[in-house]
Amino acid sequence: MSEASDERHQRLRRALQALPVAPSSLPLASGELTPRDAAELEELKLLITRHVGLDCSGYKERCLRRRIAVRMRARGMHRYRDYGKLLEDDIAERDRLLDTVMINVSKFFRNAEVWDALRTIVVPELFAVEGPVRLWSAGCAGGEEPYSLAILLHEYAVAKRLPLDRLEILATDIDEGALAAARRAEYGAYALAETSDAVRDRWFEATDSTYRVRSEVRSLVRFEQLDLLRDEYPAGLHLIICRNVIIYFEREMQDRIFERFAASLVPTGFLVLGKVETLFGANAAGFNVAASRERIFRRT
Ligand SMILES: C[S@@+](CC[C@H](N)C(=O)[O-])C[C@H]1O[C@@H](n2cnc3c(N)ncnc32)[C@H](O)[C@@H]1O
Repeated sequence: MSEASDERHQRLRRALQALPVAPSSLPLASGELTPRDAAELEELKLLITRHVGLDCSGYKERCLRRRIAVRMRARGMHRYRDYGKLLEDDIAERDRLLDTVMINVSKFFRNAEVWDALRTIVVPELFAVEGPVRLWSAGCAGGEEPYSLAILLHEYAVAKRLPLDRLEILATDIDEGALAAARRAEYGAYALAETSDAVRDRWFEATDSTYRVRSEVRSLVRFEQLDLLRDEYPAGLHLIICRNVIIYFEREMQDRIFERFAASLVPTGFLVLGKVETLFGANAAGFNVAASRERIFRRT
């Protein structure tokens, strides 16, 4: 190559590099990524792990991409690399991303048939256990799920005139913001949309615009931060309720979590999953089905 043509080549290359990336190419929510986007996404995941404390490797990539795209759209960004730079500089954006990825949506007594099955199949057995009874709501969001469980236990204890002091519910989530809301225990109409008036009037104090869970229910639940992908699990449990959480994890990670759940449960302890979640293959071997439509399993 002559000197002149070599220089032309270099100029062309510089010009190409200076070209803006087409702004319409928000690659990001779904579909195949270009190699460049894929590389930028990997870089962004490392930044998210570092700055947001979220171990991205366990989450389903398409969920993660959809959620990241929501925040990028909100900030008018088209490239993962630019969004990564923003995360480094903007601490508030880290919280917003975490909120968006975590989707802390929950409701009291979500999926009524599951709570009916818990009431009839599971709760009587829990009260029949001798000694302390330990229950764990894993991925409890704003507390609706563990408080629903506490209400169920209270209702049974009142009806059968039984003491509750042997029972304890540990409720955990990765998200401190959700846990702070859970400890406040104040809810709007949305959270109570699937709760009967009788239960609402009995177990909540109404204020102008919110309902607060009564103290006797609150006192049964202890909230702690716990990352299901990284932290140690509690042991000696009689029930784990983990609904609408593992759905966000890669299959391999789900399998690992089920193994760890089995190790945390006492023999015959219960595992309750979300309506669209289930145990597959080898993991199913450690559990029997207690109520299949309601996704209630029992450790063998
Ligand atoms: C959709 S909510 C489920 C709430 C409740 N279990 C229900 O079904 O109504 C999912 C929850 O999982 C939590 N979560 C996501 N990743 C987690 C992790 N690695 N460890 C613990 N909790 C996690 C989120 O913060 C969120 O509160």
